[in-house]
Amino acid sequence: MNEPLVLGLETSCDETGVGLVSGQTLLFDAIASSVEEHARFGGVVPEVASRAHLEAMVPTIDRACREAGVKLSDVDAIAVTAGPGLAGSLLVGVAAAKALAIGLDRPLYGINHLAAHVAVDILEHGPLPEPAMGLLVSGGHSNLLLVPDITQDIQSLGATIDDAAGEAFDKVARLLGLPFPGGPHIDRMAREGNRIAIDFPRGLTSGRDLQRHRFDYSFSGLKTAVARWVQAREASGEPVPVADVAASFQEAVVDVLTRKAVKACQEHGVQDLLLGGGVAANTRLRALANERCEAAGIRLRVPSPGLCTDNGAMVAALGSEIVSKGGEASRLDLRADSSQPVEQVRA
Ligand code: KG4
Ligand code: ZN
Repeated sequence: MNEPLVLGLETSCDETGVGLVSGQTLLFDAIASSVEEHARFGGVVPEVASRAHLEAMVPTIDRACREAGVKLSDVDAIAVTAGPGLAGSLLVGVAAAKALAIGLDRPLYGINHLAAHVAVDILEHGPLPEPAMGLLVSGGHSNLLLVPDITQDIQSLGATIDDAAGEAFDKVARLLGLPFPGGPHIDRMAREGNRIAIDFPRGLTSGRDLQRHRFDYSFSGLKTAVARWVQAREASGEPVPVADVAASFQEAVVDVLTRKAVKACQEHGVQDLLLGGGVAANTRLRALANERCEAAGIRLRVPSPGLCTDNGAMVAALGSEIVSKGGEASRLDLRADSSQPVEQVRA
């Protein structure tokens, strides 16, 4: 099929996303978020998220169709995030997708959330170069991915060995007294701070660590270093310079992310780097990646911030690629897989 109309459903975390994509064109991206219900707990509460998905699913599908000016019966295929993510939340999306596939008699594609974060860039910047390098940085994952073919071949070159980049942002924000989710708040605070004020550690960047974990990341030591620094400051009775801490912490994260991403491109002879995932919305990450890629002669592609965080358009985008390439549909007994490995593009 040349320009399939694909409906994409995303429910892996706290965003109910419904996207409609025709070929490589985004028609509409509707999102309902339960983030405010989780904020007072300082993290996503799985039960609350599942219930919110149930309530939001039908109205969000209706809104997407209305805004895109399409009828459900026009849809050629249904794509849904099958994993990884919160089990109960994934189940809501997968069940809805199966119901639609059966009711409309259309093929169902269970796809990988992480691959979708990379694929979404097609909607803004056209077909993916093959191979491309993907730097995927979200609340649950931080991976360097060699992507020969987004529809079926993704190789993980490295990943975080402890906290994900977004998780580190959220935890550090919390200890600085900033609201959840912390990434956007740190991003904003950091603009008023000095990024070289405090020399926080860069995980897995030297000696033996670098040999053993060439393209892996580690952010838990950094988080602890920030906590210690803040505690020492509080104990001394001096005020904590929140903007400087935010800027210096953020710099430590994005320095390592971009350094390793550029190195991976060079060592694997890849000309194109793609950023994806919620942390790719970070202003400083985008700027530093741009600077370093330019210096290294690597082309950089970054989706606009609204498509970096979880959404349904990314699921529809990857679904559409798979349909266009004649990829096999999933079975109707498809299961949600909360720990689906990043290499497994389709369920
Ligand atoms: O991809 P995403 O929406 O959900 C997951 O799949 O995890 O990523 C959410 C993560 C959160 O940790 C959030 O704090 C972080 O992305 N994030 C940011 C920014 N916007 C969202 N981190 C740093 N800077 C931002 N501007
Ligand atoms: Zn995500």
